[in-house]
Amino acid sequence: MKVFALTGAGVSAESGLGTFRSVDGLWSRFDPMRLATPEGFAADPAAVHEFYNLRRRNMAAAAPNAAHFALTELETRLEARGGELFLCTQNIDDLHERAGSRRVWHMHGEIARALCLHCGTRRDWRGDLAVELACPRCGRAGGLRPDVVWFGEVPYGMEEIEAALEAADRFVAIGTSGSVYPAAGFVARAGDLGIPTMEVNLEPSDVAGLFGESLYGPATETVPALVARLLG
Ligand code: OAD
Repeated sequence: MKVFALTGAGVSAESGLGTFRSVDGLWSRFDPMRLATPEGFAADPAAVHEFYNLRRRNMAAAAPNAAHFALTELETRLEARGGELFLCTQNIDDLHERAGSRRVWHMHGEIARALCLHCGTRRDWRGDLAVELACPRCGRAGGLRPDVVWFGEVPYGMEEIEAALEAADRFVAIGTSGSVYPAAGFVARAGDLGIPTMEVNLEPSDVAGLFGESLYGPATETVPALVARLLG
């Protein structure tokens, strides 16, 4: 069996990392147009760095939870049976990797990586970013930004994602509000392809009506239950 799993901020919520669209979510306290767009970065890079530096530090202080570990178990046990898990996350944190997942597709990039706007180099970056820092590759300052996908930018690896969806036997969306495209459109695409779909979330998402099945509750409870079910 090939499983395509899409995860969102809800999978890391119980690790203490905030979601975006809850009542006290990140986008209720911070302006995404200022902090998560290329235009916002061009206008005030220091403010953008401050926002992502804090999130990078919060991530380092957080630990993976039972939902991340359950998905690692799913990957291992599917592979042992000749199957596959395509784990596609909108999250920029590294909690799936720290739980042991070996192949994680970060469609919105990674906060522990930096991208140089001068030379295009992408590299691991665990410390703070700042406007005055020079790129280790080209030596020019002012061009380093978090290697994350902002509003108005194209997510990474859409061709590979489409191919993985086409090859999948099951589609599950976990901890995502279904409000940001193209990820929010995956369930409709899976439906067109005739793939059984399931939503696993705290509450019905914006696209809940498109799923064949649903499981509602905290991810640390629902994801282990989902994995047990998928492994039969
Ligand atoms: P959202 O904050 O939009 O949605 C998080 C979802 O997780 C909501 O539907 C919550 O109900 C659910 N949730 C919260 N706590 C949960 C828990 N303990 N267990 C299970 N579910 C829980 O986050 P995303 O859908 O990931 O993009 O947001 C998508 C994109 O919007 C992000 O990647 C980011 C953001 O703007 C960019 O920054 C480009």
